Amino acid sequence: MRNKKWSNFEERELVHFLYDRKLSIKEIAKTIERSYDSVKHKAKEICHEHRILVFGDLHAPYCDQRAKEIMIEIGIDFNPHEVVSLGDFADMYSVTLHQKSPSMTNVLLDDIRAVNKELDVFSLAFPDAKKVFLEGNHENRLGRYIASKAPELFNMLDIPSLFRLKEHGFEYVKYGPNQLYVPVTSAGTLAKFGMRHEPLSGGVGAARISVLKAMESLFYAHNHRLEEYHTKTILGRSVFGTSFGWLGQEGHKAFEYVKNPHTWQHGFGLVWLLPNGECIHKSMHIKDGMCTYNGKIYK
Ligand SMILES: [Fe+2]
Ligand SMILES: [Fe+2]
Repeated sequence: MRNKKWSNFEERELVHFLYDRKLSIKEIAKTIERSYDSVKHKAKEICHEHRILVFGDLHAPYCDQRAKEIMIEIGIDFNPHEVVSLGDFADMYSVTLHQKSPSMTNVLLDDIRAVNKELDVFSLAFPDAKKVFLEGNHENRLGRYIASKAPELFNMLDIPSLFRLKEHGFEYVKYGPNQLYVPVTSAGTLAKFGMRHEPLSGGVGAARISVLKAMESLFYAHNHRLEEYHTKTILGRSVFGTSFGWLGQEGHKAFEYVKNPHTWQHGFGLVWLLPNGECIHKSMHIKDGMCTYNGKIYK
């Protein structure tokens, strides 16, 4: 029998009350004796901020499984309205134009199968969230390979169809020099920041130069580093450039061609998009296979 203390209240009010007091979805469900799914649904409905789980550079199939699992575990507790992959979800080693390691013998079909498997993981973990797939330079390897080696196949193979993005529930944002994805707030207006795969500058200090060039706030990926630079416009508006690191396998042969892999960090981001378009974000560093969220260590 349900607790009499709670029975006179609407479920929505109860969830609101307890959620405001920082109880987890599990704790609320237990307290008011309702199902986890129903409380999760209500908690999502009542909050005014739009929560976005952001990550980049998974480089499937060469992802770090533990780092990915930590992100998904925290992501499920974060209960996002939206999940954004900032690009290089797939490594696409089979069609690289860089010199290949002789021991890496995978063909395009292997890559496509492995990436589809990883996309299944995200579809299952975040079935109700809006999901966005930004194409990175690694997914774009396929287009470059076809253009240089088999131009006759132009327009025959494309990333959204090979990765069955629609079926996996992902919206696709094409790679390019002007790539920009701008999320929508719970009030239906555009966010006051953009997301793209590449920073607007390479090398050290990419966060600072990117925000100064963009003259707007920007989340980016691609350089696999945790970076953050904040400043203010002359009118007092805060702007930032931020990247959340990567989720690939350190030391894997697929990354042998890169110069400074020792500078990379595992991580991802949590973004609270407010109804006025501004946001609060948190870089989630996964260090030595550990990450903390809400006072708990995930490892
Ligand atoms: Fe990358
Ligand atoms: Fe990249």
